[in-house]
Amino acid sequence: MESIIDIRDQFEFTEEDQENLKKLGELLLPLSDQMAEEFYDFLMQFPKTAVYFKTKESVKRRKETFQFWYKDLFTSQFDNRYLLRLQKTGKVHVKIGLDSYHVNASMSFLREQLRRQVAAQIKDGVCTEDMLITLHKALDINLSIMTSSYQEEKLKKYFVYHKAEKWLVQLAERLLHGLNLFLAIGLLVLALGVLTLLGQDIYQAIVGNLEHGVIRSLGSLLLLWMMIELLNTEIQHLRGGKLPVRIFVELALVAFIRKIFVASFEYKDPIPFVLLLGGLLVLGIIYFMVARIESQRADRE
Ligand code: HEM
Repeated sequence: MESIIDIRDQFEFTEEDQENLKKLGELLLPLSDQMAEEFYDFLMQFPKTAVYFKTKESVKRRKETFQFWYKDLFTSQFDNRYLLRLQKTGKVHVKIGLDSYHVNASMSFLREQLRRQVAAQIKDGVCTEDMLITLHKALDINLSIMTSSYQEEKLKKYFVYHKAEKWLVQLAERLLHGLNLFLAIGLLVLALGVLTLLGQDIYQAIVGNLEHGVIRSLGSLLLLWMMIELLNTEIQHLRGGKLPVRIFVELALVAFIRKIFVASFEYKDPIPFVLLLGGLLVLGIIYFMVARIESQRADRE
């Protein structure tokens, strides 16, 4: 918020204006009751402003607060304390949910009432002009300070939303990173499992059926290679790289190939074997399509 010195400078509000306000006060302060009544009648004309004055107490408060403001306008020095009082009024209006255009409209009404009174009471044309210029400056300063609270309130809300959004994004990022770490640990454990499987298959090849053992080991080796690929991709992903979908299809393909290796000597019935081959074909087609899409995307980037 600007300081009162800046505001006075920008509105070209001088000590002469301050003096003029005193003179205006001599003419207009005796009309305080009448002005308060007219202001209240004006607000009662519109349902959206009348709604604030349903009780006798609120009507009384309205007249009191208006008269306080009205007296302040003509008698107060336009200093920092005055600025604070106007800012407080602005905040009260924001707090009660009053739209700023009601304040603008009622200030316009007041301006016209006061202008008429000045024109009616001061007959010297030059003097009237000077007094009216001062009056407009004073009312403009009042309006500008009171309505700036609406702008500040909007900014405050924006910052609150912005902060909440930032906090949520940070939380989601941390959660995602944590989940990715968990995935990497899972993959590491699985890779150890596959390593054990490979060891078991090699042992089978040595102590049992060599042919079956070698084929099984080949399948497990394929799986191990795939696990290494997956781990590698996950580590790249943790460092900010992309996670290609292709890698998961590759993993399924390798698992199928291993199953076919094992099935070649486990199943006597050709049907499961044919089904496995069919599955492998479908996976191959999916792999082909995914790999094509990914390479096209990479070319575009
Ligand atoms: C030129 C325009 C206006 C001026 C100068 C003005 C002035 C004031 C002042 C000085 C206060 C007291 C703030 C405080 O507690 O420190 C106030 C409060 C209030 N104003 Fe205004 N006002 C204006 C427009 C309006 C309008 C258009 C409404 C519409 C209903 C309104 C409704 C109220 C209400 C309900 C309060 C709270 C009264 C309470 O304390 O119970 N004001 N206003």
